[in-house]
Amino acid sequence: MTTFTIFGTGNMATAIAGVLTSGGATVAHIGSADTGAKVQGDVVILAVPYPAIADIVASHGDQLAGKVVVDITNPLNFETFDELVVPAGSSAAAELQRALPAAKVLKAFNTNFAATLASGTVGETQTTVLVAGDDAEAKAALAAAVTAGGLAAIDAGSLKRAHELEAIGFLQLTLAAGEKISWAGGFAVNN
Ligand SMILES: NC(=O)c1ccc[n+]([C@@H]2O[C@H](COP(=O)([O-])OP(=O)(O)OC[C@H]3O[C@@H](n4cnc5c(N)ncnc54)[C@H](OP(=O)(O)O)[C@@H]3O)[C@@H](O)[C@H]2O)c1
Repeated sequence: MTTFTIFGTGNMATAIAGVLTSGGATVAHIGSADTGAKVQGDVVILAVPYPAIADIVASHGDQLAGKVVVDITNPLNFETFDELVVPAGSSAAAELQRALPAAKVLKAFNTNFAATLASGTVGETQTTVLVAGDDAEAKAALAAAVTAGGLAAIDAGSLKRAHELEAIGFLQLTLAAGEKISWAGGFAVNN
C-alpha cells in the first residue's frame, strides 16, 4: 500500500502528506476545484471540513467502493462551538460508513493538531495517531504507513470508538480555541 489520495490541500492534508511521504509513500491530492479528478491507490484520506464530505461522497462515491477511506474530521458546530453536528451516540465516521457501505472507513488523525504531525512531537512525547475502524487489515496498513513516517500509531478499536475519538478531538479544539493549550500541543499518549 504505497499510494494515497488525499482530498484537500490545507493544513492537515499537507501535514499528513508530509508524514506519509517521509515513510516512502506516494501521495496525490484532489482539491476542491478538481471535481473530475480520479482517485489513485487503495487508501483515500478526506482532509476536508466535515460539510465537504457529503460533496465528496456525491462526486466521488462510486470510486470509493472497496477503498480504505480515512475520516479525519472534527464535526463541530462552528457557530456555537458547543456541540457536534452528528446524531447523538454516532460519529462522522459512522455516518460516512453508512453513506459508503462498500468502503472500509477508518477514523484517524482527528486527535492530532496539524503542527504535531509536522513536528512529530506533542511537547516531548512522540505524536501518536489513534486509528479506529472495523477492518483490521486497513488499520494495520495505515498504522504501518504512519510509523514509517516517524510517528506512533495505536489501534483504538472498532469504528464505534470514532465516537470517543471525536469527543477527544472536540474537547482538544475547545481548549486550543480558548487559548488554554497551544495549537502545537494537545493530548499526548504515553505507551
Ligand atoms: N487543523 C488541525 O489541526 C486539525 C486537527 C484535527 C482534525 N482536523 C480536521 O481536518 C479537516 C481539515 O482541516 P484543515 O485544518 O486542514 O482545514 P483547511 O486548512 O481549511 O483545509 C481544508 C481543505 O479542504 C479542501 N476542500 C474543501 N472542500 C473540498 C472538496 N469538496 N473536495 C476537495 N477538497 C475540499 C479545501 O480546499 P479549498 O481551499 O480549495 O476550499 C482545503 O484544501 C477538518 O475536518 C478538521 O476538523 C484539523
